[in-house]
This record gives sequence, C-alpha cells and structure tokens, in this order.
Amino acid sequence: AIERTFSIIKPDATRRNITGKILDRLESAGLRVVAQKRLQLSKAEAEGFYAVHRDKPFFDDLVSFMISGPVVVQVLEGEGAIAKNREVMGATNPANAAAGTIRADFAESIEANSVHGSDGPDTAAQEISYFFAQTEIAG
Ligand code: CMP
Repeated sequence: AIERTFSIIKPDATRRNITGKILDRLESAGLRVVAQKRLQLSKAEAEGFYAVHRDKPFFDDLVSFMISGPVVVQVLEGEGAIAKNREVMGATNPANAAAGTIRADFAESIEANSVHGSDGPDTAAQEISYFFAQTEIAG
C-alpha cells in the first residue's frame, strides 16, 4: 500500500552540506518528498519529539545534538514507505549498517547518524503531525 513516513536529515548532515546526497538516496529508492522544511529545533521541540527516549542514558546528548544545527524534516510517500525508508537508512549504529545504506555511507556515529525515520505506522502518523499541518503536505 502507498504509505507516508516521517524523516529527518540531522544536523551532522546539514553541517556537511550533504542533504542533497541523502535526498538522492531516498528518491532513488522510490520515495517521494511530499513535504519538506529546514528548521532549527528548539530544545523543547527536540525533547518532545524524542519523549519516548526520555529515560535513556543518551537522551540529553541526543537532544543537544539535535539542536546543534538545522535539520530538514520531511514527509516521504511511496509503496511500503515506512519499511523502504528504514531499509535505505540502514541500522541505527553505522557500524552495523549494511553496505550502501545512508548510515553506512554518511553517518559519523550512533548519535550523529545523519537520518531519522519512523519505525511504524502509528509513529509515522504521530511524527508527521508533530511537524506538519495537513495543508503543508502535497502528495
Ligand atoms: P533515531 O532513529 O533518530 O532515534 C533515536 C536516536 O538516538 C537514534 O536515532 C540515535 O541517533 C540516537 N542514539 C544515541 N545513542 C543511541 C543508542 N545507544 N541507541 C540508540 N539510539 C541512540
């Protein structure tokens, strides 16, 4: 089925000016950008977005990293978009990411791992609505 998923190009990637390279990987996999904006997240926005990780030991560092520079937030659409995006991203830790994936090729570390992608349909819907109004999405 045609799905939508939520994606973030993270500050390590905007800093290195490789958002286009990452976008090319997503589009080449058949994902279509139906909404996109570049943002400087506030601390409160980053904490709210990653609230599920609040009790993890890496939470404070993750929030600091996510506000260390601009991000590009996106809604991606396509056949099986959620799983497809996860496949193209590769494993969270670039050391474990399959060859040819975005994280294997671009990520700096498990934290500065270049991209985020929703992990399922419920999170996708929730994460999309955290950043985008329906009127900002053009499929
Ligand atoms: P993301 O998919 O955005 O979801 C949570 C993020 O926390 C993850 O990618 C990583 O960037 C970051 N992170 C930092 N340390 C860890 C860790 N030990 N395990 C999982 N995620 C981590």
